[in-house]
Amino acid sequence: MRIMKTNDQLEPTVIVIFGGAGDLTWRKLVPALYDLSRDRSMPARFSIIVVDRVDLSEEKLRRRFYDGVRKFSRQGRVKTGGWGEFARHIRYQQGDFKKLQTYTAVGEQCAKLEKEWGAKVHRIFYLATPPSMFGEIPKYLGKAGLARDREWARIVVEKPIGYDLESARALNAILAAHFEESQIFRIDHYLGKETVQNILAFRFANPLFEPIWNRRYVDYVTITVAEKVGVEHRGDYYDQAGALRDMVQNHLMQLVCLVAMEPMVSFNADEIRNKKVDVLHAVRPIPRSAAQQCAVRGQYGRGTLQGKKMRGYRREDGVSPRSRTETFAALKLFVDNWRWQGVPFYLRTGKRLPRQFSEVVIHFRSVPHQSFPPDSSRHWHPACLVLSIQPEEGIVMGFQAKYPGPKMLLRPVEMRFTYQDSFAIPSPDAYETLLLDVMNNDPTLFMRADQVEAAWQLLMPVLEFWAESNPRNFPNYAAGSWGPKAADELLAHEGHAWRPIA
Ligand code: BG6
Repeated sequence: MRIMKTNDQLEPTVIVIFGGAGDLTWRKLVPALYDLSRDRSMPARFSIIVVDRVDLSEEKLRRRFYDGVRKFSRQGRVKTGGWGEFARHIRYQQGDFKKLQTYTAVGEQCAKLEKEWGAKVHRIFYLATPPSMFGEIPKYLGKAGLARDREWARIVVEKPIGYDLESARALNAILAAHFEESQIFRIDHYLGKETVQNILAFRFANPLFEPIWNRRYVDYVTITVAEKVGVEHRGDYYDQAGALRDMVQNHLMQLVCLVAMEPMVSFNADEIRNKKVDVLHAVRPIPRSAAQQCAVRGQYGRGTLQGKKMRGYRREDGVSPRSRTETFAALKLFVDNWRWQGVPFYLRTGKRLPRQFSEVVIHFRSVPHQSFPPDSSRHWHPACLVLSIQPEEGIVMGFQAKYPGPKMLLRPVEMRFTYQDSFAIPSPDAYETLLLDVMNNDPTLFMRADQVEAAWQLLMPVLEFWAESNPRNFPNYAAGSWGPKAADELLAHEGHAWRPIA
């Protein structure tokens, strides 16, 4: 049950970040922890133990984190008050992730803090390392006896959870050998976004939309996660992953679940996760033979984005000059159940697209009978509902209205809710929400082993088909364009379209 504790109710906590000298800690974790501490949401007694291989003084590490807080934190960008007070909670523990002594040293530090504070501490082990370490660290934590206490020890694993179904199962098995499922927090940072959580509130706290949220009224659903960025400094990782593994398997499938799931009976973590996994089980499998019709892949070549020349993907650092990795993926899915039978869900994501935005659009069916004179409805668009996830955070309802004047003319108009206008406070970063949930021991927004595996299972035939067949037309979209034409054709065949973006 999601009940937030205030900081004086949170028990003493030690957060151990493995790979703490890396990018994720600098860019996301420490800024989020800093923001939580500024909001007085951290436990009254806490410590952050950063573990990494590099030789680094605590002083130097804190300076680097300070820089990250100034660049990336919600509050540090404005003022960095309280930094000194926050920084004194950070300790550095140099150590090899594959040596038991690293873990015994961590255990000793925790025991020392327990003694100092005169209280038992919660231990949160956060894996912010390269994925190759995900299968190693839990074993050492187990060996060092640090996983043993079911109530007080937790492990947080970043995506990617596996490279495919088999490796995801293997990783889940390692985790399960040392931790109970209730101790394992698998992060998908999309679930921490306010607007993503709002999909549940919107659907199930308002009686208005749920009656029409089904095949009788919904024609099709489009989900877009568009990025302007390329692969930046992550070429090595990305070239092994590609868009389907990096974005669709996790973030986009989570969005499908939230849009398509049945109402939960209570706001209980397992109840919500059960309802979500039901969706994944209902998604019609795409056999390898249908991958060509249901999935589109793309890779960006050179192009122009906002007046700037961009190099092609194959020229990015860390990327093979003959890479076959997709930087764009689109899918057509069906959810085979009573609610959604026959309603296509189209998903697309890509890098180096003209704009950065994420949205879910519910495209409603047209009216059953068109009674207006043909002239009046030349600009006719069936109603649609846009759930904007970022950068705009809100919901827009598009419908028809009469254009002012003597004639009966219909024009599409919009009714708009934005977070910014309705609430005077900024949304927390997804990592703030998720870190606080881990401290609160609330797994609602985290992925369970079965969800991760179900999502992999669905995508495996497409991944296998793509691995076997050479994408001869790569690169097939220019940086700064909306992706390969085939992604539009995927919808056009059915008379459908992505929502046009100005
Ligand atoms: C990450 C992916 O999970 O999500 C990145 O690995 C991607 O490739 C990022 O850029 C997008 O997240 P957001 O929050 O910026 O939409």
